[in-house]
Amino acid sequence: MSTDGSSLIPRPGILDISPYVGGESEIEGRRDIIKLSSNEGAFGPSPKAMAAFEKASGELHRYPDGTCETLRKALGKHHGLDPVRIVCGAGSDELIGLLCRAYAGSGDEILYSQHGFLMYPIAAKACGATPVMAPETDLKADVDALLARVTKKTRILFLANPNNPTGSYLSTEEVQRLRDGLPASVLLVIDAAYAEYMTRNDYSSGAELVDSAVNTVMARTFSKVYGLGGLRLGWAYCPPDVADVLNRVRNPFNVSGPAQAAGLAALDDIAFIDRSIAHNEIWRAWLADQLRGLGLTVPDGVGNFVLARFPDEAGRDAAAADGFMKERGIIVRRVAGYGLPDCLRITVGNESEMRAVVAALKDFTG
Ligand SMILES: Cc1ncc(COP(=O)(O)O)c(C=O)c1O
Repeated sequence: MSTDGSSLIPRPGILDISPYVGGESEIEGRRDIIKLSSNEGAFGPSPKAMAAFEKASGELHRYPDGTCETLRKALGKHHGLDPVRIVCGAGSDELIGLLCRAYAGSGDEILYSQHGFLMYPIAAKACGATPVMAPETDLKADVDALLARVTKKTRILFLANPNNPTGSYLSTEEVQRLRDGLPASVLLVIDAAYAEYMTRNDYSSGAELVDSAVNTVMARTFSKVYGLGGLRLGWAYCPPDVADVLNRVRNPFNVSGPAQAAGLAALDDIAFIDRSIAHNEIWRAWLADQLRGLGLTVPDGVGNFVLARFPDEAGRDAAAADGFMKERGIIVRRVAGYGLPDCLRITVGNESEMRAVVAALKDFTG
C-alpha cells in the first residue's frame, strides 16, 4: 500500500528511499545570505559561460543536439579522451541513476563507502537493488572493507574520489588495488566530481583506469569548479559497451541546449578555472587552520569544502553552530544524513564569506 493508501504500488525499494535533501538555500526573513551549503564554486559561473547561456536564449524553441556532439568533442580534446566514449547527462546524478537502472535491479547489490555521496543508496533503491555500505577507516574509503563486501550479487561499486563530505581521497595506487581486487563483472564507478580541485601528485581522476581496466566508468560534473550546478550538466567516460548502453537508456534530449552551450564556454575559460583552483587552495587551507585554531577538529581534506567536527555538548554541538551561523545569515551543510551528525560541511566561498564564517564561529566557540 502506498503512503496515501491508494492502490498504486511502486516497485519494491522505492518507498524505502528518503528523498535527497540538498543544501539549504534560504533563511526565513533574510535576504542577505551567504550560501556555503552545496559546494557550488566560490566565484559563480565563468562570465564566458553566462554570455553563452544568454546567447542560447534565442534558440529556446529548438531541441538541443541529443548527442551533445560539440561538447563531447571539446571534453575529449580538453582531457585527452575519446569523445565517442563520453556520455553527457543532466548532472552526474542522472548518470549515476542511469548506470544503476541499466546494470542492477531486484536481487542485486550496489556497494558504496560509509560516508559516500548520498545519491548512491538512493539510486540503488530506485532501481530495486540493495545498497550495501562498507565501513570507512578514519573517514576514508577502505579498500579492504569494500572488497570484503563484494558478493556474487554485487553489480556496481560507487567510489566518490575525492569524497563528499569527508574530503578524503584514495590515491591512484589504492584505486588500482580496488579495481584489481574486484571481479570483472563488477562495474566500478569512480565519481570524480571534485577532480579539478585536486593538486596532489598521488591522485588521478580515474580516466586511465577506464582505458586500461575492464568495467570502469569515471563520472564528472560541471556543478563544482565550473559553477554550473543550476544548469545540470555532467558526463561519464566509459568503456565503449557502457557508453552504448547509456545512450540507449538515457532520454533523447537529456541535456538542454543552454547547458551544452554554457558548458562548452566554461570549459574554454581556462583562466577562470585556474583562478578558482588557486583561490580554493589558499582559502580551504586558511579556513581549516582558522577552525582548528578555534578548537574544532578538521580533517586534512581536499575538494572545495571543509568538514568541521564539533564537540558532543549541548549548545556547542554542530546543530547549535548551524543555528548560530544561520542567525548571521550563513548557511552551511549539516551532514547527519551522511552519518556525521557532529559535523558541518562548509563550502569554500570568496574571501569575505570565509572571513564571515570564521568570525561567526569565533563568537560561537568563544
Ligand atoms: C561526489 C558527488 N558526486 C556527484 C554530485 C552531483 O553532481 P551533479 O550536480 O553533476 O549531479 C555531487 C554533488 O554534490 C557530489 O558531491
